[in-house]
Amino acid sequence: MNVILLGAPGSGKGTMAQKLTNDLQIPQISTGDIFRKNLKEETPLGLQVRDIMARGDLVPDEITIEIVKNRLSEADCRNGYILDGFPRSIVQAEALDGFQQISAAVNIDVDEDAIVKRLSGRRFCPDCNGTFHVSTLGDGNICPACGGKLIIRADDSEETVRERLRVYYKTTFPLIEYYKKQGKLITVDGNGTVDEVYARITAAIGK
Ligand code: AP5
Ligand code: MG
Repeated sequence: MNVILLGAPGSGKGTMAQKLTNDLQIPQISTGDIFRKNLKEETPLGLQVRDIMARGDLVPDEITIEIVKNRLSEADCRNGYILDGFPRSIVQAEALDGFQQISAAVNIDVDEDAIVKRLSGRRFCPDCNGTFHVSTLGDGNICPACGGKLIIRADDSEETVRERLRVYYKTTFPLIEYYKKQGKLITVDGNGTVDEVYARITAAIGK
């Protein structure tokens, strides 16, 4: 099953993708994680995207499409995958349709005040890409999954979050209509606990 997770920044795409990956044993392909890994390792790609991500803008379509096309051609994607954060523009969605068959696009629909709460308390593990929230972590800043040191993502500052939301509504939101027209859109209420939202998603995709 080839699933796309759509939704605003902070809607829970990464959180839900990690759970689906564990349960369905198919990989999570997060373009954000791929870019952050390159940033951390200071690769040429990382240096190219650093300022773009810090501003909350989108990395150019042609760069992103090439990365995803290559990643999806790897052997572990043969039995399906979860796309987290891609596509994010109509150009990306049309390109994806040219080289892959998508089963469903799940739109995680969350109220904006919940998004702000989620992003302002997010903690991220650069070692295992685990995503957590301060409300469930206690005092520590140690990753409960791998023991790594948790950080606050550079693009979770108030100003950058505002820009990411603006970019989302302008460029990514139209994908909801795009997948609706294809009959592939599933909208799930993303408000509520992680377990509640996850149960809605698995029911919606029949898993
Ligand atoms: P990316 O990393 O994809 O960021 P994003 O889309 O803005 O989404 P987030 O990762 O912020 O949120 P999420 O929906 O994954 O939520 P999460 O599960 O973490 O992209 C970063 C940047 O990379 C972009 O700005 C762009 O520059 C570039 N980029 C990436 N892809 C690109 C593309 N295709 N094209 C061009 N550029 C691209 O959850 C958030 C918080 O809420 C966490 O703390 C979590 O613990 C908590 N939480 C989750 N669910 C719940 C719940 N149900 N109840 C309570 N708390 C919850
Ligand atoms: Mg994410």
